[in-house]
Amino acid sequence: MENVRPETMERITTPELANAFIEKAVEELQNQIGTNKVLLALSGGVDSSVVAKLLIKAVGRQLVCIHVNHGLMRKGESEQVIEVFRENLGSNLIYVDATERFLTKLAGVDDPEKKRKIIGGEFIEVFAEEAAKLDGIAYLAQGTIYPDITESKGIKSHHNVGGLPESFHFELVEPIRLLYKDEVRMVGGALGLPEEMVNRQPFPGPGLGVRCVGAITRDRLEAVRESDAILREEFAKAGLAGKVWQYFTIVPDFKSTGIKDGKRSFDWPVVIRAVNTKDAVTATIEQIDWAVLARITDRITHEVPGVNRVLYDVTPKPTGTIEWE
Ligand code: XMP
Repeated sequence: MENVRPETMERITTPELANAFIEKAVEELQNQIGTNKVLLALSGGVDSSVVAKLLIKAVGRQLVCIHVNHGLMRKGESEQVIEVFRENLGSNLIYVDATERFLTKLAGVDDPEKKRKIIGGEFIEVFAEEAAKLDGIAYLAQGTIYPDITESKGIKSHHNVGGLPESFHFELVEPIRLLYKDEVRMVGGALGLPEEMVNRQPFPGPGLGVRCVGAITRDRLEAVRESDAILREEFAKAGLAGKVWQYFTIVPDFKSTGIKDGKRSFDWPVVIRAVNTKDAVTATIEQIDWAVLARITDRITHEVPGVNRVLYDVTPKPTGTIEWE
């Protein structure tokens, strides 16, 4: 497989160019896969979703998708994967709710690297267990994109199911390996994927796990998930959703005093992070309108159990990383 983008390859900047790419990719996939079965780990992010849709177009139900819900997904995300791929597109989708398994393994683990290792390792184990139940799979599809190859920073390590046991002898299928992210989004739009999925902001493989700082507890994880959903809703209403590169909430593992319903409270703060960047190596802070921040604060402190304060992180990268862990 060609892994170097030819200099003559035109940048996909229009729906027409995206359609031409799709036509060629579908033909190549059909030639490569023939009548065999192909497996894909479908996270719901734009890359794996575009690969899934291309494969459905090319080989229909010869594609088997596995969606592992590690319990660290954003609110409504796994539901959307099921709705789009199983209900609307009629694809072969195996849904595995592994929430209990992940949270049990993560209980009491507060070191960020250990948390990542557990999440990545467990992900591969769950995926391999499901794959072992299937017969006749010859190919493994991956949503590798060009920056994954050229930068190989390794941050996508567990999305790409590289660590599968040696007993799995799949040939790789990587139809978007020569595309940049903006091209993947253009192709996703031309494939008719929902706009929300196509323009989804980057989401780390370990999910909300790295935003529930320290040892993950179920109640604090829920506070991360609910506050993130409110932030996304309010950013969309304020027209910021497509404008800000990445925005999310963090819940640290300390509490402070406050007053709720006339009574003293001792609850967690929610931290808002909203950054702009080109390549995630450096990042600047989005200056959010005060009224928008006030509305988000009001909603989070009143709607999310266990939270009594909202803070806005004004630290660029460097010195802060984008994520808190
Ligand atoms: P940091 O926090 O290092 O993040 O400034 C840079 C970008 O990478 C994402 N990120 C990850 N993505 N697995 C991923 O797939 C990870 O472990 C991981 N850690 C950080 C982060 O969301 C940001 O977009």
